[in-house]
Amino acid sequence: MPRARRQMRLGLSVASVGYHYTAWRLPEVSAIGSMDLQHHIRAAQIAERGKIDFLFLADWASLMNLGDPRIARDREHAQLKMDPTLVVAALAALTERVGFVPTASTTYNHPYNFARRMASIDHISGGRLGWNMVTGFNPEEALNFSHDKPVPSDIRHTRATEFVEVMHGLFDSWDADALPRDKASGIYVDRAKVHFLDHAGEHFRVRGPLDVERPPQGRLPIVTAGVSDNAMELAARFADISYGGQPNVEAARTYYTTVKGKLHKYGRTDDEMLMMPGIQCYLGRTQAEAEDKFARIQALLDPKVGIGHLLLNHFPDMTGRPLDEQVPDLTMATDMMENRISGREPELTLALIRRAKAENLTLRQLFDVAMCGFWSLGLIGTPTMIADTMEEWFTTGAADGFNVQPPYMPQGAEDFVDLVIPELQRRGLFRTEYEGRTLRENLGLRAAPSGYARAAAQLPAMAG
Ligand SMILES: Cc1cc2nc3c(=O)[nH]c(=O)nc-3n(C[C@H](O)[C@H](O)[C@H](O)COP(=O)(O)O)c2cc1C
Repeated sequence: MPRARRQMRLGLSVASVGYHYTAWRLPEVSAIGSMDLQHHIRAAQIAERGKIDFLFLADWASLMNLGDPRIARDREHAQLKMDPTLVVAALAALTERVGFVPTASTTYNHPYNFARRMASIDHISGGRLGWNMVTGFNPEEALNFSHDKPVPSDIRHTRATEFVEVMHGLFDSWDADALPRDKASGIYVDRAKVHFLDHAGEHFRVRGPLDVERPPQGRLPIVTAGVSDNAMELAARFADISYGGQPNVEAARTYYTTVKGKLHKYGRTDDEMLMMPGIQCYLGRTQAEAEDKFARIQALLDPKVGIGHLLLNHFPDMTGRPLDEQVPDLTMATDMMENRISGREPELTLALIRRAKAENLTLRQLFDVAMCGFWSLGLIGTPTMIADTMEEWFTTGAADGFNVQPPYMPQGAEDFVDLVIPELQRRGLFRTEYEGRTLRENLGLRAAPSGYARAAAQLPAMAG
């Protein structure tokens, strides 16, 4: 159903028990978190109560940095996670309207198995499944899948392109009327309406057809993230949603126009992609209450964790430095950024370094800046202040919606749903009821008829 006016789309991204690295140490937060189905059920129910478009689950199939004593991963909660596609299959049975976007990589899955699993979950959920498509940039993941070193970006991305094409081809295996299931004639399947894909490409040979009926949405909404040229091209080719990690409105506007500017190359228009940057907020009914919440969680931050994360993001090792002294001259850190050691954007580190210098930040203050949002928009404030910022991003070409990243769960998500969403609704910026039954409908994406139906109707092909 078309909306009367443009409204925001919102996701709820649940990183284990929260985006703050110390979330698990708060007394009110369950330290078991992501290994407990009840935790996920609660998150899905909060999202659905808030009329949020989808629950988003980030993922990678390995631990990270556990062998490096400088990175204090042994003091964080986010290493353990259940396979998110399985989690959302369970959640689908317990919810009715909210969508689900689990993450899975095109480098470490095979398109037949994956199409089968995702089509199944789309049926299980009645058309509420999306996919955060990643190419597996984490070097430690490579070691779990028969590689000695990270798979080069070009190979990951050509494989991803072929992967999506195969998956969409498999989804189209069954025409809408391919299954007469006619008890009188005894004909279950109309052979003429079942399609063999017969794909033979650089990375995959797949005959098909898929042994699952076409998923209710036809094609699942695809989310991607990433700032490398390859990642942005992949987004422009296939993504319905681009999940960004920009910390300020200027950077978000640049990213918005850069990625949308590539769409026409793939025969797509600006409105075919929703830009949804991450947003992390500490909320209070007063500014003082919000600041207290942030201070309370920061007080639990082990300096080793803070220093390790700065190190991962191109800062020098500041182990042993007094927390309340000004940080050293970080000019040399810019040299280290030549050699990207993570998927993050070096320019963001540069901005943080410049700020540390300009404002004479101490190490403790640098932790405060870095831990609130880190590479995404981080806000500490009242619902009005947060809604003002979201409205500014939404109305000035920086965002079409947001992926909300609660710093701790479930309280951070409850605060957002109880305090910010009513304010957005009051301003007419967010829905008061789901418009559709499927995730595609709620996101306002066009229907996705099969490639065979499009060819028969002489419609142009869709990307992938
Ligand atoms: C906001 C954001 C979220 C991301 N989430 C994931 C994730 O959950 N799993 C993953 O493997 N990669 C994730 N990535 C990494 C990207 O998919 C991409 O691989 C990365 O930015 C590096 O780009 P490259 O693969 O072109 O080197 C994320 C990136 C960003 C910016």
